[in-house]
Amino acid sequence: MDPTPVALVTGAGAGIGEATARLLRERGHVVLAVDISPEALSWVDSVDGIQAVAADVSSEADNAAMVRTAVDSYGRLDVAVLNAGIARRTHWEAEDAVEAYDRIMAVNARGVVLGVRHAAPVMAEGGGGSIVVVASTSGVRADPERFAYNASKAAAINLARAAALDWAARGVRVNVLAPGPTSTAILQGGKVSPEHLAELTRNIPLQRMARPEEQAEAICFLASPAASFVTGAVLMCDGGITANAGIFPPPPLLTA
Ligand SMILES: NC(=O)c1ccc[n+]([C@@H]2O[C@H](COP(=O)([O-])OP(=O)(O)OC[C@H]3O[C@@H](n4cnc5c(N)ncnc54)[C@H](O)[C@@H]3O)[C@@H](O)[C@H]2O)c1
Repeated sequence: MDPTPVALVTGAGAGIGEATARLLRERGHVVLAVDISPEALSWVDSVDGIQAVAADVSSEADNAAMVRTAVDSYGRLDVAVLNAGIARRTHWEAEDAVEAYDRIMAVNARGVVLGVRHAAPVMAEGGGGSIVVVASTSGVRADPERFAYNASKAAAINLARAAALDWAARGVRVNVLAPGPTSTAILQGGKVSPEHLAELTRNIPLQRMARPEEQAEAICFLASPAASFVTGAVLMCDGGITANAGIFPPPPLLTA
């Protein structure tokens, strides 16, 4: 009988990460739910087969420790979902712009470097595995007033492609899930105005935001043996946003 697959999910305290940890568990994995905030992981207490691990993905020591926990607890690591991310408005002239840039890059890009660096060798040793990097539509297009986030997600995408090339021969697949607007705390909690959210939805061809569970489904597909010949791919899960060349919804003149 095959051993129970072991998965870790970073940023699993909320949103897409929590939905992914729950779905991987449902699909038969034991799961390490990793988050910088131990309080955010309190939901884990009620789910058998999910273990909470406190770690900051921008720290090399924490990445080493979270992978070590997987190996010490379960003897292997099959899936790593590098999902933890932060988003902040950045203005070029703001006093804290460079500081904000450094922190966003540390979590969203350096976090991917460290995640791959520590997870991939252990997966390779165990015969192979699958890494899914959660980037964003903001990594293939740019949003206004978010230069740091845009840069960090573009970096995450190409880091994943580079990792896919470098680890393919050792049986580790690396893919990217690029979500569009998804109803989680990152978009809510007052950080984005209701008017902006309404405008955002109007510009999504499917006319709504995603649910975190929809992103989790796409992540689990990339992580699973169903995607066994998929590596270095970027799966857009964005309701059609990046299919658009710039005019959406259609103005009256074009529909007449
Ligand atoms: N929600 C969206 O609309 C959307 C769109 C595109 C991409 N994304 C990306 O999806 C991922 C998840 O986003 P979400 O909306 O679920 O976010 P969220 O804010 O709901 O959850 C993110 C979780 O990551 C944790 N976290 C933050 N910094 C961390 C660190 N340094 N180390 C470990 N954990 C950390 C937070 O504590 C939080 O629990 C992010 O990478 C985000 O950029 C989200």
